[in-house]
Amino acid sequence: MKLSSTTAKNSYRYFWLLSKIFPYIKPYMGRVIAGFLVAVPLGLLDGVVAFSLKPYMDYVVGQKNLVFSLLGHTYTVSYLLLGTIIPFGVIGFALFQGVLRYLNDYISEWSSQKITNAVKISLFKTLLKMDTKFYDENSSGIVLSRFLTDPDTASKGIVQNIKTIITSTCGALGLICVMLYSSWKLALIGVVVLCAAFVPVALIRKRVKQASNQNMVIGGNITTNINETYSGNKVMTAYCLQERQEKAFVNQIHESFDVAMTLIKRAGWMSPLMYLIASCGIAIVLWYGTGLILRGEMTAGCFASFVTSLLLLYKPVKTLGNTLTGLQTIFVAMGRVFELFDMEPELKECKQPKILESVNSSIVFNNISFGYTPEHTVLKNINLEVKKGETLAIVGNSGGGKSTLVNLLPRFYDVDSGSITIDGIDIRELSLSSLRKHIAMVFQDNFLFSGTIKENILMGNYEATEEKLEQAIESAHLKEALDALPDGIDTMLGERGTTLSGGQRQRVAIARAMIRNAPIVILDEATSALDNKSEAIVQKALDNLMKNKTVFVIAHRLSTIKNADRIAVINEGELVELGTHDELLTHENGQYRALYEMQFRKQETVEV
Ligand SMILES: Nc1ncnc2c1ncn2[C@@H]1O[C@H](COP(=O)(O)OP(=O)(O)OP(=O)(O)O)[C@@H](O)[C@H]1O
Ligand SMILES: [Mg+2]
Repeated sequence: MKLSSTTAKNSYRYFWLLSKIFPYIKPYMGRVIAGFLVAVPLGLLDGVVAFSLKPYMDYVVGQKNLVFSLLGHTYTVSYLLLGTIIPFGVIGFALFQGVLRYLNDYISEWSSQKITNAVKISLFKTLLKMDTKFYDENSSGIVLSRFLTDPDTASKGIVQNIKTIITSTCGALGLICVMLYSSWKLALIGVVVLCAAFVPVALIRKRVKQASNQNMVIGGNITTNINETYSGNKVMTAYCLQERQEKAFVNQIHESFDVAMTLIKRAGWMSPLMYLIASCGIAIVLWYGTGLILRGEMTAGCFASFVTSLLLLYKPVKTLGNTLTGLQTIFVAMGRVFELFDMEPELKECKQPKILESVNSSIVFNNISFGYTPEHTVLKNINLEVKKGETLAIVGNSGGGKSTLVNLLPRFYDVDSGSITIDGIDIRELSLSSLRKHIAMVFQDNFLFSGTIKENILMGNYEATEEKLEQAIESAHLKEALDALPDGIDTMLGERGTTLSGGQRQRVAIARAMIRNAPIVILDEATSALDNKSEAIVQKALDNLMKNKTVFVIAHRLSTIKNADRIAVINEGELVELGTHDELLTHENGQYRALYEMQFRKQETVEV
């Protein structure tokens, strides 16, 4: 399945998306709700400060004592006392609000982080279950952004944004209450202004989305470029491709700049426009409010607290506007994340898989055909039987399908037609792990994980004893090389095993295959990267690995091919010849003979 770097099909099904994320939120529901509950007073407290201006102006500034009755008693509070209480009260509220804000941030960060982590862990599990085709089709940039950035945006965003919406809505409501209390007429003007300020937000939502989608594509390309610069650094240096990489990077950065500027052009006027609308509102309020005071319909204190509320109202409204626009991005990210969860590897284990216990008789390719894409068939009608304990060498033209053929056995891909059987059982009926447990592979370019050499070898079989480990190292002719390293087998490898030479890497891979002690061994050009001397050493290691096993070996070395029990010649995806070295040489115009004349004869003279 090829992932799009921007869109996902379900980004607009909001309720569906929320129902999808809910199971991840559920375990932390208590804290999430606690965070939301704290957000309510946090927002409302804004109004308290504005409200306190009214008694301050009317009593303290107006030098009037406050007289009020409670439960039949009449109390008097002197304006001097009020002048002290109110400022301290304001500080007290700020302190209280500070504590609430801290609590709110802490709780919502905690819960949103936990939710994001849960989503990321499940996503990583989905990634791990994907088949080889998925990794072939999707660039690392896309996968990285989908698996690392989107879950943050999606799950963290949803919790944080709901929190912000609650705080801002409560803030706005509190302030509106103060405004209504001060003067309903003025409040009406305020609310109209408030609604008007929302209009631009609604208008630009779609245009913002387009630009942010574009930004995602560019982000993915940039990541891929950096990854390639990193893993292809040798080729880059050798062919002086720095300029090419730089050009690509600079282009991408410029593109990203253009998109950012488009975004600003499209969305940047929203904030000034909102300010303008707000100012108009304030201007009307000032003009109308002054009239109300002059006519004695409103006190100066009331007016002060109204204007303060109106000014304070701008912030939560703006935040609310931004958050609502941002919600779109979050839903897009959620769509992209939950699309991944629905991703199923095309290659699946059957419902009731059989467990492969051992290989007893033979491996058969029954008339198989296969292509990576439907348009291009790589392997055509191959029939082949390999007996237990037999070594089959595979030769043929480059790109002919040799690697493809052996990659079908551990089910990296499934055949398009025909079947592969082990002891008569179709490999598609076997459990994937039991099938793969019976196969040890050494590739041309072997990947070593970051970690120690020991860990890398033990990946072949974690249950291996120290003794078996020693044996594997010995048979892989790795001992000498390891002794030369200061930390020996505990040497830490660089990210791609870079601290070892090509031959040493290959021998670590052979030790890894050896310790697996699997009955089927696949060697795909396992020595092709080596010089003659290291190749001879590695070849010895391979001979050890191949002992008493059923072996598929793709090689260019004559002695390996000659020593094989049989040789299969695969040219342009077809099995054109099959037989022993001597048999095949007797074919007058045979392809093996031609290959032998062209390539191997030279080696024979060197080797003899
Ligand atoms: N992952 C892939 N996706 C699509 N096509 C592929 C993939 N791997 C190989 N191919 C194509 O399949 C064909 C057979 O490739 P394969 O690697 O099996 O050849 P090969 O015989 O091993 O060649 P070589 O001797 O050069 O290693 C080639 O045409 C190649 O372009
Ligand atoms: Mg190959």
